[in-house]
Amino acid sequence: MAADTLTITDNRTGKSYEIPIQYGTYPGYGATINAMDLKQIKATEQDFGLLTYDPGYTNTASCRSSITFLDGEEGILRYRGYPIEQLAEKSTFLETAYLILNGELPDSEQLQKWSRAITEHTFVHENIKKLIDGFHHDAHPMGTLVGTVGALSTFYPDAKNIHDQECRELQISRLIAKMPTLAAFAYRHSIGVPYAYPDENLSFVGNFMNMLWKKSELVYQPDPVLEKAIDVLFILHAEHEQNCSTSSMRAVASSYTDPFSAASAAIGALYGPLHGGANEAVLRMLAEIGTVDRVPDYIKSVKEGTGGKLMGFGHRVYKSYDPRAKICKKLAYDVFAVTGVNPLIDIALELERIALQDDYFISRKLYPNVDFYSGLIYQAMGFPVGMFPVLFAIARSVGWAAQWQEFLLDPDHKIARPRQVYCGCKQRDYVAMDKRK
Ligand code: CMC
Repeated sequence: MAADTLTITDNRTGKSYEIPIQYGTYPGYGATINAMDLKQIKATEQDFGLLTYDPGYTNTASCRSSITFLDGEEGILRYRGYPIEQLAEKSTFLETAYLILNGELPDSEQLQKWSRAITEHTFVHENIKKLIDGFHHDAHPMGTLVGTVGALSTFYPDAKNIHDQECRELQISRLIAKMPTLAAFAYRHSIGVPYAYPDENLSFVGNFMNMLWKKSELVYQPDPVLEKAIDVLFILHAEHEQNCSTSSMRAVASSYTDPFSAASAAIGALYGPLHGGANEAVLRMLAEIGTVDRVPDYIKSVKEGTGGKLMGFGHRVYKSYDPRAKICKKLAYDVFAVTGVNPLIDIALELERIALQDDYFISRKLYPNVDFYSGLIYQAMGFPVGMFPVLFAIARSVGWAAQWQEFLLDPDHKIARPRQVYCGCKQRDYVAMDKRK
């Protein structure tokens, strides 16, 4: 019997099956059996065959990927093999984006070309402004972003050529470059001020700040500390393997739709408070708690199930401190040195201190995640809470694009179409209206 196999005995029939085990880069992490190998296991010849039941895909690998390695027990996150800590310290968002998309760090010429491609595509069609104007005056910018990114598919019908490598690269540049413009326009619409056009002489983040905050000055000068902080936060949020929004991107794109329609769905998934909307929910929670002395009562209500979840805590994959949260926590103080301290930080620190000593959180391995501190930073910079998930979306568009491309190049790729376990009625006859009880 081969060593790398699994023997399954079906006690309904007494039959045994030998199923191969496959590995990824690390044998101790990602050993899998092919779900289709279970289909041969049947109680009777007419049976459909054995399925696995896994709501939320808690233990199902939906693809093979070479982009991000994540060890939740050890708190490790690496993009293309590079530790997140090193990238946050030494790289820039655009360089990291290149790495995530292409697999290698760029040389200086490649980086220049890539940066130029992004800068060139930051402008959006004028009609996008009319589209945004149609949204209600206080529209949530994330809802606006779902609409405008989806609408890009109508401005770029060539994006349907998803099997053409050159065309894909063009759409990826368009998506990543236009996200900050669409986000900034959505923001300015929500506060009722005229849109500011991209400035090609600024960095990716500097230009974003310009489109957000430029007033009547001729040239906007971004604060270098804040510019760097946003850049680092974008690196931290750029990619995170098969999370809810990325899985949505892959699932929607698996029907061979264009990448803008798929990215719009991914933004919709990110919007929710359990995913990218968590940083917004954290800030609302901290504001609701209000003062440090009310923290113990809040924790008690979370444990008793009356106060909802402790937002910004817990993660499907991390069962230790999220490495991104560590970087965010430190970054907060760099930002506060410029903006002044966000008073909610004291409440956050007290929540963390109490939660990390409490058996409820310890036994469930609930630690701060990336969103616990990122919102505090964004708020100190002057972003309204509704913009927090939008900032997440700008950065994550890189991961979505990389995963989309990887999906299409994967010879194993298939349209996403999970199975279900039917638990409803067996066949019955139609009942006429006058005979129904
Ligand atoms: N506060 C209180 N209890 C929690 C929390 C929390 N934040 N998270 C999980 N639990 C409890 C949960 O009630 C359950 O308890 P029990 O075993 O008694 O039923 C146990 O911990 C396991 O939780 P789960 O819901 O089965 O875990 P999950 O993997 O399905 O959910 C999660 C992961 C992130 C959705 C969840 O931890 C959560 O809702 N956290 C708060 C929202 C949040 O911060 N989300 C941002 C995630 S990081 C950014 C991103 O990548 O999107």
